[in-house]
Amino acid sequence: MIAVENLVKRFGSFTAVDGVSIDVAPGQIHGFLGPNGAGKTTSIRMIAGLLKPDAGRILVNGHDLAVEPEAAKAALGFIPDRPFIYEKLTSGEFLRFHAGLYGMEERDIDERIKEMLDIFELGRWQHELVESFSHGMKQRLVMSAAFLHRPRAVLVDEPMVGLDPRGAKLIKAVFRRMSENGVAILMSTHTLEVAQEMCDRISIILKGAIIAHGTVEELRSMAGTPDEELTPVFLKLTGGSGLQEIDEIV
Ligand SMILES: Nc1ncnc2c1ncn2[C@@H]1O[C@H](COP(=O)(O)OP(=O)(O)OP(=O)(O)O)[C@@H](O)[C@H]1O
Ligand SMILES: [Mg+2]
Repeated sequence: MIAVENLVKRFGSFTAVDGVSIDVAPGQIHGFLGPNGAGKTTSIRMIAGLLKPDAGRILVNGHDLAVEPEAAKAALGFIPDRPFIYEKLTSGEFLRFHAGLYGMEERDIDERIKEMLDIFELGRWQHELVESFSHGMKQRLVMSAAFLHRPRAVLVDEPMVGLDPRGAKLIKAVFRRMSENGVAILMSTHTLEVAQEMCDRISIILKGAIIAHGTVEELRSMAGTPDEELTPVFLKLTGGSGLQEIDEIV
């Protein structure tokens, strides 16, 4: 559903993304892990069609993003790490605006907006201005928008930041339900418990390149760590924790 081949992005002489390939099948949740600055957001922005790659190919639902950008983007939902929402709209208006952008059919819109507001527990605030929303409410609204037009594939950049336990549980349940309905989800996260709990497969990116991919089980055996937890596996594969330096400073 999402097929990325040899994606490259350079900023001047710096190569931020250096030949990334990722495949996400329908119904799969694919975790995209890596240290700060590894190239996750840059990759995701290219797949979302917001940043032009220097090389590589991106297919969404069989449509080449460079050849049929509209068809590819119509099949895609995107939840950015730092979303922009028009604060002077109500949540209902924001979703209506989004529906317009995606050319949803008029007769379908109201019912679908209601459905999304219910799923993300925002129905009570449908007529409130977004500027009065808490961080978690804004986050849930952005997610409602991303799923509104029934995308076949969804890109999520750091979904769990700043969500309370109830919000995080809700988001996990929604992602699971969407994936059971066949939606392919590519999700970057630093919350390794979430990755471990939710992801069918994981790709680890380091300095712009994928250094490991597979199921949690496969990554564990690649790292040769007996640990149940994904954190030591991640640290082993990405070359240590760097924490010894802190010991030296302290
Ligand atoms: N517009 C830009 N111009 C120059 N360098 C950039 C630009 N965007 C990103 N970079 C650089 O590319 C590298 C990858 O950044 P990116 O935001 O993709 O990392 P990330 O994996 O998402 O990190 P984080 O976990 O902190 O979100 C970083 O070194 C960053 O400074
Ligand atoms: Mg990022």
